[in-house]
This record gives sequence, structure tokens and C-alpha cells, in this order.
Amino acid sequence: MVLFCLVILCITLLINPILCYIPESRVGHNGLVIQNTLLILGGWKYSSNLTKKYTDEIFYLNLTQQFDVANPSWELVLGGNLPLYSYFSAAFVNTFDDNIIYLIGGFMSNITTGEYDYSNLAYMYNYSSYEWTTLDVGNVTSRQETVGIINDKGIAYIFGGFNRTNATTSEGTYYNDMRIFDVSSMKLSPLSITRNLPSPFSSYTANLLKNGIIVYIGGQEDSYERYPNLPYKVLSLETLRLFNTKKSEWSYMNVTGGENIDPRFMHSTVLSKGEIILFGGCANNFSRINTKLAILNTNKDIYEWTIPSLSDSPPQIFGHSANIHGNYMIVTFGYELDNLIVNSQIYLFDVNQYTWVTTYTPPPVPPKNDTNKKLSKALAIGLGVGVGGGVVLIILVSMGIVFFKRRKTKSNTLEIPSSSM
Ligand SMILES: *[C@@H]1O[C@H](CO)[C@@H](O)[C@H](O)[C@H]1NC(C)=O
Ligand SMILES: *[C@@H]1O[C@H](CO)[C@@H](O)[C@H](O)[C@H]1NC(C)=O
Ligand SMILES: *[C@@H]1O[C@H](CO)[C@@H](O)[C@H](O)[C@H]1NC(C)=O
Ligand SMILES: *[C@@H]1O[C@H](CO)[C@@H](O)[C@H](O)[C@H]1NC(C)=O
Ligand SMILES: *[C@@H]1O[C@H](CO)[C@@H](O)[C@H](O)[C@H]1NC(C)=O
Ligand SMILES: *[C@@H]1O[C@H](CO)[C@@H](O)[C@H](O)[C@H]1NC(C)=O
Ligand SMILES: *[C@@H]1O[C@H](CO)[C@@H](O)[C@H](O)[C@H]1NC(C)=O
Ligand SMILES: *[C@@H]1O[C@H](CO)[C@@H](O)[C@H](O)[C@H]1NC(C)=O
Ligand SMILES: *[C@@H]1O[C@H](CO)[C@@H](O)[C@H](O)[C@H]1NC(C)=O
Ligand SMILES: *[C@@H]1O[C@H](CO)[C@@H](O)[C@H](O)[C@H]1NC(C)=O
Repeated sequence: MVLFCLVILCITLLINPILCYIPESRVGHNGLVIQNTLLILGGWKYSSNLTKKYTDEIFYLNLTQQFDVANPSWELVLGGNLPLYSYFSAAFVNTFDDNIIYLIGGFMSNITTGEYDYSNLAYMYNYSSYEWTTLDVGNVTSRQETVGIINDKGIAYIFGGFNRTNATTSEGTYYNDMRIFDVSSMKLSPLSITRNLPSPFSSYTANLLKNGIIVYIGGQEDSYERYPNLPYKVLSLETLRLFNTKKSEWSYMNVTGGENIDPRFMHSTVLSKGEIILFGGCANNFSRINTKLAILNTNKDIYEWTIPSLSDSPPQIFGHSANIHGNYMIVTFGYELDNLIVNSQIYLFDVNQYTWVTTYTPPPVPPKNDTNKKLSKALAIGLGVGVGGGVVLIILVSMGIVFFKRRKTKSNTLEIPSSSM
């Protein structure tokens, strides 16, 4: 009887992973590591006639399971599709509640009408209940191509960006103000800073160091659409823009090694032990870059770029996302400059060995200190089985107690979020 029940239980548990999903290629999406999953939302893809096509589905990779880049087990989130089409927006996870994602700004259009619609600039997603909530973040204007980077106090920093005023010509305005979004008030408000302001720019990356400094890398100061005859509107990697979140001050650093790496925008960066790993992007006017991957060591007084020698490398892409989890930088999708196609691949960079790899191996099971969802799920299944339910229940409860004890032993650790496009 016990065996019979366990067999049924195993079959039930095995059904979930079979519901695999094959996502389409995309650009300008958000990738977020949340609850041991890599969640992907937003972006645009090409339809068969090469017109832009928007997408509202949300899907994830389970980061507690091994996978191969050739065959990742994407799974569709069966609830809570995006309430709007969004791309090149800022998205981040609430420091204090890892059920909650904020989606702010970006190019936004109404799913029903298909028209650009900036009447609501911020949304909140509850990953547990699949509920989207429209936020009233205050009297602010829309921005695209920004990054939101949240600190341990629940304050997200969203710098400058772009506001496109003409969808036909892509004309717009670049900004250099620093806005903060506080998860407790859920308001977006500009910091009043007048000293040392950088020039306006967008399409950068941002990483928050342990000392409270946000390192801004690359970006676009102006576009070819606006000034077709002016070269070098893409930011160099030699002089970096630094924002001190503790003092609300800007400063600049001439770093070493940057002269050999092409200026770029629409690239990605992740932070690993004080090293910022830069990948992809494109140069002025969406042209090719000389170096796909470079590493900035911020543990030195003067930060230093190095270019690791890599035998194998993914194609040149931009508009992708990159996230760090365990030993890996996980790069997803983007636009492939070599073949001029939108990409549907995953690439894995081992941040300890500095090599591109093809297999993701999950980190040792991180016991989680929160309400025990697994236990309640297991209990629900146990109750549903009915035949010999009591026996199963006893087994499950004792399993649950062991599991619960293990999960309780872990202390809360703060992961400084790494940014992506
Ligand atoms: C491309 O196809 C979409 C439907 O997939 C259609 O709405 C759109 O009008 C088409 N555009 C052109 C230029 O044919
Ligand atoms: C991820 O995989 C683990 C182990 O198979 C499973 O217990 C968990 O429910 C999965 N998480 C999600 C969100 O699918
Ligand atoms: C999209 O447009 C429809 C029709 O105008 C409107 O009812 C709906 O509220 C809009 N959706 C959002 C998310 O603003
Ligand atoms: C998110 O959803 C869960 C499950 O429904 C709920 O318990 C929690 O209160 C929600 N969080 C917020 C901030 O709404
Ligand atoms: C919103 O801000 C703009 C510009 O800062 C100002 O002109 C406008 O009056 C404000 N609207 C409200 C409702 O406060
Ligand atoms: C931003 O762009 C929208 C249209 O895309 C426009 O309505 C709005 O006035 C612009 N805001 C500013 C401050 O230029
Ligand atoms: C956008 O630019 C086009 C081409 O210059 C022009 O015809 C159109 O009126 C502009 N639209 C707006 C809203 O300014
Ligand atoms: C960086 O170098 C440039 C050119 O050599 C110089 O003009 C600038 O003042 C330097 N900036 C800093 C912050 O040292
Ligand atoms: C920018 O790229 C476009 C499309 O590839 C090309 O037509 C144009 O000449 C380029 N402009 C410059 C200044 O290189
Ligand atoms: C687990 O979380 C609870 C509150 O959610 C907290 O009181 C407790 O100290 C945490 N335990 C550990 C070991 O961190």
C-alpha cells in the first residue's frame, strides 16, 4: 500500500517538468533571478514578415535543475501574462519580498489597441499570486532604455534614459537625472543633484558594488537618428561614471585597459565578487564591436579592464539579458549581429573558470527560510490521493518536518542584484 501511494506520488510530481515550453527569440526583454528561477518577460520579436511583434508571456528556467544550453527546460508561467507590451524597461525584485517584481518605464504599448500608451508607467507583479497591479508612482514622465538597480534598503536607482517623442523617426530626448523608487512608498522621485552631472545617456548597464557605488558602463548619449553626421555618440569604457548612493554624488574614474575595448551600448554586465563581467553590445550605429567579453576588476583602487583569452565564444549579440546565478553568467536571447537575426539561445559563462560552458549545474541546494510551499503542495497531493491517504500523510509530514528543519537553518543573505539590459 505504501509503495502504491509512493508510486502515485512520484507520477504526480513527474508531470510538472514535462510541461516544457519553447520560447521565441526576442530583444529588449527583462531577465530576473527570483526564487531560484530565471524569469523572462517582455521584449519584442520578429513575426514571419519581419515586422516587430510584441509578447506578453512570462516564462522561466528552473535554476535548481541541471540543463544543457542546447535543450534548456523553459517553462511557461501559467498565469499573469504582462498587462502591457513592454521592452527596454527597468525591472527589479523587491529587496524585502521576493514575490514582488517592479516593471518601470520602457517602451510600453496597450495590448488591446496595439498603440503606444504611457498612461501608466509602473506595474507590480506578484510572482506567487500572478497578479499585476498598476502603480501610481507620482507625477513623472516616461523613460526608456534605463536600468533599475535596487539596494538593501529597498531603494531602486533609475538613471536618466531616453524619452522617445516620435515613434516614426525615433526622435526623443536623453536625460541625466537620477530617480529613485522606494518600495515602501512605491513612488518614483528625482534626486536633486546639480554637481558633476554626467551628460544625458541611455542603454547603459549599472552594477551596485558593496561600498554603495553604482558603476555605469557604456551607453548611448545621442542617436544617429537625431544626429546622423556626428560620430562617437556611444560612451567609452575608459572613463566610467560612478554614482555614490550613500552621498548622492557623481564622480568619474579613468580606468586602465579601457582603450582597447570598443565603446558600446545595449550590452550586459553582471557582478561577481567585485568583478564586472561585460558581454556583447554594439558600437555606434549598431555596428560590430572588437571585444565581446571583458572583465572590470573593481577591487583595485583604479578599476582595471582585462580581456580573458577565450577559445570559444557566442556570436556577437546586443539587446540580450545576462544574470548571474551560482557559478554562471546566463545570457539569453538578443539580436545577433553576425547573422542579423533575433536570437533564441542561451549562453553560459563560468565566472570562476572564465570559460564558456554548455552545461548548467545548480549550486548546492540553498535552503530557503520562508513559508514552506513545498510542504503544503505535498500535503495537498497527499490528501488528494485518498487511497491509503493516512499512511502517505504520515510519510509526507515526517518528510516535511525533515525538510522544514533543513530550510530553517539558513540565514538570510542579501544578494546584490546584477543588472542586465
Ligand atoms: C505582418 O504580419 C502581421 C501579423 O503577423 C500583420 O499584422 C502586419 O500587418 C504585417 N505587416 C506587413 C508590413 O505586412
Ligand atoms: C524547480 O525544480 C525543483 C526540483 O525539481 C522543484 O522542486 C521546484 O518546484 C521547481 N520550481 C519551479 C518554480 O518550477
Ligand atoms: C488598453 O486600452 C483599452 C481600450 O482603450 C483600455 O480599456 C485598457 O485599460 C488599456 N490597458 C491598459 C493596461 O492601460
Ligand atoms: C502576493 O501573493 C501572495 C499569495 O497570494 C500573498 O500572500 C501576498 O500577500 C502577496 N503580496 C503582495 C505584496 O501583494
Ligand atoms: C506634473 O509635473 C509637471 C512638470 O513638472 C507640471 O507641469 C504639472 O503641473 C504636474 N502635474 C501635477 C498634477 O502635479
Ligand atoms: C515623452 O514622450 C511622450 C510620447 O512618447 C510625450 O507624450 C511626452 O510629452 C514626452 N515627455 C517629455 C517630458 O518630453
Ligand atoms: C514624427 O516625425 C514625422 C516625420 O518627420 C512627422 O511627419 C510627424 O509629424 C512626427 N510626429 C510627431 C508626433 O511629431
Ligand atoms: C581622464 O582623462 C582625461 C584625458 O586624459 C582627462 O581630461 C580627465 O580629466 C581625466 N578624468 C579623471 C576623472 O581623471
Ligand atoms: C548607419 O547604419 C545604416 C544602416 O546600416 C547605414 O545606412 C548608415 O549609412 C550608417 N551611418 C553611418 C554614419 O555610418
Ligand atoms: C527565518 O525567518 C523568520 C521570519 O521570516 C525569522 O524570524 C527567523 O529568524 C529566520 N531564521 C533564520 C535562521 O534566519
